[in-house]
Amino acid sequence: MDLIKKIKNFPFILAPMAGYTDHVFRLIAKEYGASLVFTEMISIYSVVYQSKKIEKLLYFSKKEKPIGIQLFGNNSLLFYEAAKKAVDMGFDLIDINFGCPANKVVKTKAGAYLHKDLKAVEETIKSTVKAAGKIPVSIKMRSGWDEKNKNFLEIARIAEDNGVKIITLHPRTRLQMFKGKANWDDIKKLKEYSRLFIIGNGDVVDRNSAYKMLNETGCDAVMIGRAAIGNPFIFKQIKNKNYEPSFKEKVETAIKHLKLLYKFKGNRGLLEMRKYYGKYIKGFPNVSEIRNKIITETDINKIIKILKSLI
Ligand SMILES: Cc1cc2nc3c(=O)[nH]c(=O)nc-3n(C[C@H](O)[C@H](O)[C@H](O)COP(=O)(O)O)c2cc1C
Repeated sequence: MDLIKKIKNFPFILAPMAGYTDHVFRLIAKEYGASLVFTEMISIYSVVYQSKKIEKLLYFSKKEKPIGIQLFGNNSLLFYEAAKKAVDMGFDLIDINFGCPANKVVKTKAGAYLHKDLKAVEETIKSTVKAAGKIPVSIKMRSGWDEKNKNFLEIARIAEDNGVKIITLHPRTRLQMFKGKANWDDIKKLKEYSRLFIIGNGDVVDRNSAYKMLNETGCDAVMIGRAAIGNPFIFKQIKNKNYEPSFKEKVETAIKHLKLLYKFKGNRGLLEMRKYYGKYIKGFPNVSEIRNKIITETDINKIIKILKSLI
């Protein structure tokens, strides 16, 4: 498959992250080498009934391709409708979220809740694969609901039997949320068990841990989330052992991110950008003082001036 070939060339992928992986972050991650990017999780209801309201979540540019859309929800018929729309929009991959542990999602029987309902998992996968046609379908899941109920292998079997091409495993249980350590052994078990393309995810923080995951688990690709926030450089560091972004490059990238986000979302973009500064300028002298100055500033030109004063 064409998409898998592209990922294999550089098997390091940007994770879907709600509130972060929008058009701008994805574009920058792509420029630094990520071979695949995803939208954040998007509700099947919004895709089917309110796509106007979520235009910005659905927007992507050609430069971000290949790009996956991640869908979550609790209704296999709507998964069918949403996946059809995703195909029409030009996404290269349709990913089903079986991993979100947030209460508000689990309460609606979506996300990680599905670890408790394998019949719904099967129906969701079947509908999505049917609607997707030639576009590959992937799933992203956890190890299970809790330590006593790990069922990632059962879900992998259902996925494989019903036409899924790619599985991402974040090997924590739902009850763990983001606590404790990701259990990479589960990724290894999944790789040994399944013939599908396996993406490992969880606790990769730098070049070394990225290769460590590949080597220790045998997974086909590695997905990076938190460590890429305000640090798209991680992808280039993985590619090139000797590359280290200079302070100047970090600041210039932060400014580029800011300008693009402002262009894309207006004042909302300025507010959203506040989540990134601390990460971009990590390691600079007097970081917290400068960060505080920037995040209370509302004039984009003044923010750029403060950032430029760092170099
Ligand atoms: C702020 C935030 C938002 C997230 N949103 C999503 C999401 O929309 N869909 C999803 O499948 N996972 C989501 N995740 C989970 C990540 O994709 C990833 O599985 C997790 O962070 C572990 O990888 P990491 O250790 O590289 O961060 C989110 C994680 C964070 C920190």
